[in-house]
Amino acid sequence: MKDTPHSSISYHFLLKILPAFFFVSLIFLAALSYFERITAKNSYDQLMQEKTDSLALLLAEPVWQLSTKLSKKILQATMEEPDISCIKLEQDSDITPMINEGACDSELTDIEEFSSEIIYVDTHSTRNLGTVFVYTKETDTWSSIAKQIKALAALSLILFITIIIIIIIAFRSTIISPLMQVSQSLKFYRTTGQRVPVDWNTTDELGQLINEYNKNLIKQTETEAALKDAHQTTATALSDLKQAHSSMIQSEKMASLGSLVAGIAHEINTPLGNSLTVATSVSDITRKIKIDIDAGTLTKSALDNFVESITEASTILERNLHTAAKQIRNFKNVAVDQTSEKRRLFDVKQVVEEVIYTLNPQIKHTPYRVEVSIPSGINMNSYPGPLGQIITNCFNNALLHGFEAKKSGLISIKASLMNEGWLSLDISDDGQGMALEECMKAFDPFYTTKLGSGGSGLGLNLVYNLTTTILGGAVDIKSTINMGVTLSFKLPINAPCAYKTQGNL
Ligand SMILES: Nc1ncnc2c1ncn2[C@@H]1O[C@H](COP(=O)(O)OP(=O)(O)OP(=O)(O)O)[C@@H](O)[C@H]1O
Ligand SMILES: [Mg+2]
Repeated sequence: MKDTPHSSISYHFLLKILPAFFFVSLIFLAALSYFERITAKNSYDQLMQEKTDSLALLLAEPVWQLSTKLSKKILQATMEEPDISCIKLEQDSDITPMINEGACDSELTDIEEFSSEIIYVDTHSTRNLGTVFVYTKETDTWSSIAKQIKALAALSLILFITIIIIIIIAFRSTIISPLMQVSQSLKFYRTTGQRVPVDWNTTDELGQLINEYNKNLIKQTETEAALKDAHQTTATALSDLKQAHSSMIQSEKMASLGSLVAGIAHEINTPLGNSLTVATSVSDITRKIKIDIDAGTLTKSALDNFVESITEASTILERNLHTAAKQIRNFKNVAVDQTSEKRRLFDVKQVVEEVIYTLNPQIKHTPYRVEVSIPSGINMNSYPGPLGQIITNCFNNALLHGFEAKKSGLISIKASLMNEGWLSLDISDDGQGMALEECMKAFDPFYTTKLGSGGSGLGLNLVYNLTTTILGGAVDIKSTINMGVTLSFKLPINAPCAYKTQGNL
């Protein structure tokens, strides 16, 4: 924010107190004028009354002597006073004549009246000779007060301005200055990232606040340093973890390939063993027939038996070697797919069946079965290797977790073509299933309920990663306790050229 005079606290402070100060001063001046006027009026009235009383006293003798001339002179002398506009002398008996001095006959407005009785005192008696009335202009009292009020107002204004200047100076040095220092310290931190403490050492509330601010500054610097260290440690740990994750995924792949090799070796062993047995027996009967031929004892029936045995042996040999060749071909396809991760055009049913064929040895002598229900002719331009790894992991999970302690089990693989070039693939088992909390964590790396007994918790994480990156699809898992697990995949028929990440279905 820009610093302008209008954004200063002093400005707002003055804006708030000035009207109040002005208003209070005005009321004060008005009240002062009012009381000043009353006091001035009272003293003026008192003064005029005293003058009227003195006039009555002066008039007693000439009135008693019936000296109108003297009385008039006294009244004229009194009229010299500037405030007096008229004096009336009224008789109380016939012997006293009435005298008017000044503008007594005209209409008298805004005037004040003062009166005093004229008493004549001699040795024998006291007589009331009449009354003297003095009239003054009322407005004249105001003019003298107005001057005083003006002077007072000017004085108040000077005092007011002086007080304001003193307040502003005190305000700036005690409040604004430390606040500005705090603001500069914060600005400095924002622009340079360095924390500079504020140099302010008063013991008042602001001083305490700045002291706390400085302490916090030190604490924050320490915390920041500790945080940086922790961040560095976390970053190193994360990179180590990522490395461990990818090498574990790699070994997971290798392990599944290893079990594939072991299964195939076991499977090929049977037809090759059969072939070897047949070959040995062929060799035996050939040796015997040769002995008969050499001795010239070969009979027609022996020759017929030999031909029959050889024919049968070659049939058995042919069948067993075909089986072995088929297994090796399958193994080759699956192994090449899974190790090379090459993109190619393939038939979904064929690839899935090849993979299942290589996995079959694991369930051959168990009560568990696999059912594949995929229509022929669904062609994908994608990655058969990762698809095979997904099927292998789901298959292994069904055996290891789903069918654990179960007398029978069915793994079912269903696929169908959806609209707009997407394949829907469901791999489900009817095993013991998972609770909702387990389902929610199933795709997390290292989540396993078989820790220490063969599980690393990377199988489903690998499934998720392969689905959402290489294959460019999405996967969702559904399960209920004792009702098995279903993994539903939605895969594009044409896999994306570059890997991209997508979420669940
Ligand atoms: N078909 C299933 N039936 C029941 N539980 C399952 C099934 N598949 C997975 N789970 C549960 O999900 C967890 C995670 O599976 P995941 O395949 O990721 O790891 P894992 O099988 O334990 O170890 P790994 O596959 O790395 O050898 C398993 O430990 C298991 O508890
Ligand atoms: Mg697993």
